[in-house]
Amino acid sequence: MQGSPDLKPPAPVPPGHVPPALGLSGDDAIALGRLSQELATAWRGFRTARPDQPPIDDALRGLLAEGLPAHGMPLATAVDDAMHVLDSSIAQARPRYFGFVGGSGLETGVLADALVSSFDINLAAWSAAASEIERQTVAWLASFVGFPAVDGHFTSGGTVSNLTALSAARQRLLPDVRTSGLAGRRVGVYCSVETHASVVRAVELLGIGSDAVRALPLRSDRGVDPGAVADAIDADRAAGVLPMAVVATAGTTLTGAVDPLDALAGVCAERGVWLHVDGAYGAPAAATATAAPLFRGLARADSLSVDAHKWLFLPKACGAVLVRDPDVLRATFAHDKSYMLEEEEHPNAVDRTLEYSRPFRALKLWLALRVHGADAFRGAIERNLAQARLLHGLVDAHPRLRPLCGPPPLSVVPFQHVPDDPTTDIDDHNARIVRRLQEDGRVWVASAVVDGRTAIRPCFVNFRTTDDDVRAIVDEVCRVAE
Ligand SMILES: Cc1ncc(COP(=O)(O)O)c(C=O)c1O
Repeated sequence: MQGSPDLKPPAPVPPGHVPPALGLSGDDAIALGRLSQELATAWRGFRTARPDQPPIDDALRGLLAEGLPAHGMPLATAVDDAMHVLDSSIAQARPRYFGFVGGSGLETGVLADALVSSFDINLAAWSAAASEIERQTVAWLASFVGFPAVDGHFTSGGTVSNLTALSAARQRLLPDVRTSGLAGRRVGVYCSVETHASVVRAVELLGIGSDAVRALPLRSDRGVDPGAVADAIDADRAAGVLPMAVVATAGTTLTGAVDPLDALAGVCAERGVWLHVDGAYGAPAAATATAAPLFRGLARADSLSVDAHKWLFLPKACGAVLVRDPDVLRATFAHDKSYMLEEEEHPNAVDRTLEYSRPFRALKLWLALRVHGADAFRGAIERNLAQARLLHGLVDAHPRLRPLCGPPPLSVVPFQHVPDDPTTDIDDHNARIVRRLQEDGRVWVASAVVDGRTAIRPCFVNFRTTDDDVRAIVDEVCRVAE
């Protein structure tokens, strides 16, 4: 395999060796008990401020050099090794992980994952209660964020949700596209310059070509300018281009900005254009008293992406796509299949989804909402919103730090450290700080380029993060900057 490391040859198979049957033996069951202790220890550990990224030691290097094992070893040994690997990896569940749009690995979700994997349900086909629970959980999620979905399902995340929604928008615009393709027709997709790259990827995969993406300018609040969207649609129509969809972002990855959804819904309604809202990161904040006003107009969109594995704290993968048209997903994805019987009262979800084999992702959100209740999620999101405001205030008041944006609409706070020496390049200086922070691991942040400036960019989407963890960002940035 190209690029694969030089692995040690496997140990020779002993003479007379009979390959064992798969499954656990009696002794292994004892090791299973230990697994739950390891989990409990890990969960306790996640509440402490220990470094995020212990170095890869010699023992781990030995493990990484091992070849394919021909025969097995006791579960306890393999679990020890697996824990070593996990402990030496960058874990988004830790409270001082502030990179990208992270996660939390909520314990109830972890337990649901273990149950779901054990039963290995495949939601491609009608799966009785599991299919009904997916429907119910989609309805709960829709009601939590305030989107009147009549159809939807769980996906691997925002990328697949955005692709699914834009496939539906293409289907609405060009009902013959599945057989005829674009057939020379040119289409346009309208979004802000800060739209997530998965939207561009979706456009590429749909055969539309990324030249069709009109990346439009921002207003001073970093939301896309709805006037620019309207003008771009009108100009395209006049030039014979068919407007396919406006993609609004409700929580941009770069700064957490929310596009003006109500104004965009007006632009789309007047012109008969599909409105998709990419709320993969931000949509859960629509359920909070603080951020709800930013999401006015969300209910007027045609489709919504929302990731429970981001700001609903569940372990990956748990995204969802919600739509308001009851028929469009079926029109987009259904095929005649001789190997899957179709019964009207027991529909196969695969006729409305991009994926075929699909795990029962809904159960982890269903279980978590039942155990904790929606108010606990609302409260945890409110705390993250307050933590972003706390950091913005600390940065603003600090003589050596400066925020790159105004008060955070959601939970991303891009900022810079100002070097002592005015001749030092400030962007290189901040890139260096982020590299040092990542190597050190006491707090883990990513860098980002905001308006051409290299920023330190923490994002708060972890229910374990405390205000002390937020203050540690300022301390650690100043410590490694010296
Ligand atoms: C706004 C937005 N959309 C889409 C995505 C892609 O989501 P995923 O990584 O779950 O596919 C992200 C990821 O951070 C995002 O922030």
